[in-house]
Amino acid sequence: MTRVFSGVKPTGHLTLGNYLGAMRQWAAEDQHRSDALFCVVDLHALTVDHDPARVRRLSRQSASLLLAAGLDPELCTVFVQSHVDEHARLSYVLECVATDGEMRRMIQYKEKAVRERERGGSVRLSLLTYPVLMAADILAYGTDEVPVGDDQAQHVELARDLAVRFNQRYGHTFVVPRATVPKVAARVMNLQDPTSKMGKSDDAGPGIVYLLDEPDTVRKKVMRAVTDSGREVVYDRQARPGLANLLEILAACTGGNPAELSGVYESYGALKKDTAEAVVEVLRPLQKRHKELCADPGYLEGVLRDGAERARAMARPTVDAAYRAIGLLEPASETVVNAAR
Ligand code: TYM
Repeated sequence: MTRVFSGVKPTGHLTLGNYLGAMRQWAAEDQHRSDALFCVVDLHALTVDHDPARVRRLSRQSASLLLAAGLDPELCTVFVQSHVDEHARLSYVLECVATDGEMRRMIQYKEKAVRERERGGSVRLSLLTYPVLMAADILAYGTDEVPVGDDQAQHVELARDLAVRFNQRYGHTFVVPRATVPKVAARVMNLQDPTSKMGKSDDAGPGIVYLLDEPDTVRKKVMRAVTDSGREVVYDRQARPGLANLLEILAACTGGNPAELSGVYESYGALKKDTAEAVVEVLRPLQKRHKELCADPGYLEGVLRDGAERARAMARPTVDAAYRAIGLLEPASETVVNAAR
């Protein structure tokens, strides 16, 4: 059976981008057709300036939103990264296979490092090595497919490169994974700046629809979306990025096609209104389920505990195999030690 692994980073409140670009496919398709794991990758949240209490809060909330979005613990494994030691164990070994140059070429590193410096902060070493930890997340589970939004494709490519390199040097150990990206809404853009991604770590909210935004807030944000000069509703990502973003959001929410939808609308106002309502309707059941889950924190705790146990058992053999292959001495078992005494 195909093994699927993906994750969300609790650095901010989850957004419509996270949902349309990733979570929706996990719930609608991936968990049904494959052996799938979905992870709140909390170690990744420590790569930038962070408040420990906020990371804890967001980790819990992200896990709850994964379930609210439709992930079913009977069908897939939902867990928190730091509960499974194998991620960090494998990450170090993969750092011994990756190169410094490879890390510095990562687009997200370059962008985030600039942002951190502009804020007057220092760049944490873990921000540079982050893609190796992500590769460890993926490779530890023998993952075939990694369903992600377009912004993570380069990181998955790195995981592939590291798997191939490791296998060539030290013997076949890892499955070589591949990214799967949704056809529509693989990169939802910021409503106020349609040339940049709708990212949860951004400070200001008017261009970002959060999954827990109230319906009226969603409506306001969509109605105020920056559109391009011109009157005709056409789908052209390059020339009309604001309009294209709205058409993609509408298409993703209604199961339509952005180019076809552009022919339906005569005014920007009508398009915005329908997009806003479509987003509100998509978020409604998710918000309701999230509220129910918040009322029963014991349930979530149980799901995460069981998930971590299952994940540990799945990752352990592969990570042990990688340790042996790269030249680390296997710890002697108790029986061998006792026999020698
Ligand atoms: P993160 O937390 O930034 O995003 C989680 C998922 O949401 C997708 N996504 C988007 N898709 C479309 N439009 C957007 N505006 C948008 N914003 C986010 C992301 O592509 C992602 O699929 N490094 C990863 C987390 C991670 C991971 C992993 C993912 C760590 N280890 C192993 C897969 C496998 C990240 O920061 O995702």
